[in-house]
Amino acid sequence: MSAPETEVGFSPPPYPYDRLGAVVETAASHPGGAVDLSVGTPCDPPPNAVVHALGTSGTERGYPASMGSAAMRSAAARWIERRFGVSLDPAQIAACVGTKEFVATAAWFLRLRTPGRDTVLAPSVAYPTYAMGARLAGCRVVEVPAAGIGGIELSTIADADAERALCVWVNSPSNPTGALSDLGAAAAWGRARGVPVLCDECYAEFTWKGAPASIVQHGVEGVLAVHSLSKRSNLAGARVGVYAGDAELVRYLAEVRKHAGLMVPGPVQAAAVVAWDDDAHVAEQRERYRGRLARLAEMLRGAGLEAEMPAGGFYLWVPVPGWADAQGEVEGRTGAWVLTTALAEAAGMIVSPGEFYGARAAGWQAVLVGQPPSNSTHPVAHVNRLEEIHVLLK
Ligand SMILES: Cc1ncc(COP(=O)(O)O)c(C=O)c1O
Repeated sequence: MSAPETEVGFSPPPYPYDRLGAVVETAASHPGGAVDLSVGTPCDPPPNAVVHALGTSGTERGYPASMGSAAMRSAAARWIERRFGVSLDPAQIAACVGTKEFVATAAWFLRLRTPGRDTVLAPSVAYPTYAMGARLAGCRVVEVPAAGIGGIELSTIADADAERALCVWVNSPSNPTGALSDLGAAAAWGRARGVPVLCDECYAEFTWKGAPASIVQHGVEGVLAVHSLSKRSNLAGARVGVYAGDAELVRYLAEVRKHAGLMVPGPVQAAAVVAWDDDAHVAEQRERYRGRLARLAEMLRGAGLEAEMPAGGFYLWVPVPGWADAQGEVEGRTGAWVLTTALAEAAGMIVSPGEFYGARAAGWQAVLVGQPPSNSTHPVAHVNRLEEIHVLLK
């Protein structure tokens, strides 16, 4: 049943990856098969002990703790101490059903806490769920441009917008750009204005320039670090993450979320304990991604594209050649779509056009390396065909 004509309701936009249908078909028709690099979905295995814990915890019968079991929150606290050198009380940590869920619902719950505010501040080139969370909460989004070195340029935020802000999202390392943010500056900015700083750190373990960083290293007042086991431990299918930091914010959100029925299943919480407590598998995964990134960047450079190793994350953020000259339009489509199609034709690669990450990113291409080739040969096998890309772009 459609909504009455007088009402203007929320109509969900097409999900970005669902728009890749034609590209997927083109890639599939490549003689070497398709290589899906479009979504950061892990395909390497989680540790055996983690999978074993999923089936043997005996927790499936009863309801799990919405906030997360004491065991899981303690394990996350131990990891935060080992990784970032910050000691948190488990009461400063709570579970979420994967961090996308937290990102998508945070504005909604924060607005219940502060109904007089209606704005979410988010990076202009970013994982789309920050802006979607604002829309789902009936809030406005103010896009914050990137700073020179990456991250977000907080100085551009107008006082009037800061006064209306429920939160500011920071994502470091960034999906898609890989840029690292000045987390100390972000924490200080938020504290000075009474705006909670929500820092999505799901790629922290995959930091290539300098040590992994967390906003909680700059004090916990007014900040939350958001962490996922999806990338760290290849557990995207299990759906578990945590948010950690300001005790009052954690307490409030955990209470509301309990009423909303948001719970990480008990077996997944048990597996998460094992995952948070082990660092060896993460070290292995880091080397896999580092190798894939370096190989793919070299291939793309060989094809005439500008592909630099990111400061963090496992995405290559590649400018579309000639974007400025073509002013974004090549035969009626943005240059990024032309390049997406060219990569599918020439190499069977499925990648994401920049516009999936915001209008300001339309001249860029995100090439993700979370997923290995489905046909068991790395895209390096197609390197000769890749060399044809610049021809296709002309
Ligand atoms: C920046 C960012 N945040 C959050 C997520 C969500 O991860 P999950 O819901 O699996 O924890 C992703 C997934 O790709 C991401 O790229």
